[in-house]
Amino acid sequence: MLFDTHAHYYSEAFDPDRDEVLSALPAAGVGLVLCPGCDLPTSRQSIDLAERYPHVYAAAGVHPEDALGLPADWLDQVAAMTRHPKVKAIGEIGLDYYWKDNPPRELQQKVFARQLELAAELDLPVIVHDREAHQDCLEVVRAHPEVRGVYHCYSGSLEDAKVLVKLGWMLSFTGVITYKNARKALEVIEWLPMDRIMVETDSPYLTPEPFRGKRNDSGKVHLVAEAIARVKGMDPEEAARITLENGTRFFRIEI
Ligand code: NI
Repeated sequence: MLFDTHAHYYSEAFDPDRDEVLSALPAAGVGLVLCPGCDLPTSRQSIDLAERYPHVYAAAGVHPEDALGLPADWLDQVAAMTRHPKVKAIGEIGLDYYWKDNPPRELQQKVFARQLELAAELDLPVIVHDREAHQDCLEVVRAHPEVRGVYHCYSGSLEDAKVLVKLGWMLSFTGVITYKNARKALEVIEWLPMDRIMVETDSPYLTPEPFRGKRNDSGKVHLVAEAIARVKGMDPEEAARITLENGTRFFRIEI
């Protein structure tokens, strides 16, 4: 059984067949899915999906690209959503310097830091998005040593990975590690202790090879686990078992 620790099933890409896709997952070997929100409405939608499907869990949070124009009580709203029993983390949160028209960096950092403080207060793990912001992201994380989290779709250096592991953090990987230019991520995986690795699809994005270019869904998460197994020289079944164990331990999900 596999655990897809990051998939956005509220996305309109799933409007035509969301129920069909989600209902088929357990029989296809994907027994758990975590759906993180990107803003207040999508966090609520993630919770709705978690209520509807026993194998779906949720996270609530504000993504750096959505940090502008938040209502004054946005953090209280995130806190209120985390009280739902199927909300297992605050996420996804972080920094994104990739797009030029993204919210100002200072605002992103403030919104990120506030949610890390909330995570510490509520004793919840966080799901971090770091795109082209490695140095600042690590700095904010280090300023909150009481918080544990996962860097989703890890794209940083081996050096930063070592720092994060020392801080007690997890790293998770997507279909990106099946792409031709994945050398850096594969080097990180080669070094990374197996108990710090989680797998995810980031559906509907980042579809693994050989399906790159098509819509992604959790039924393809085995391709990520298999890529990790290849690097580690282990059986794909074992990579699936260990990453499932890691995910349930990290998100405190009892199965
Ligand atoms: Ni995501």
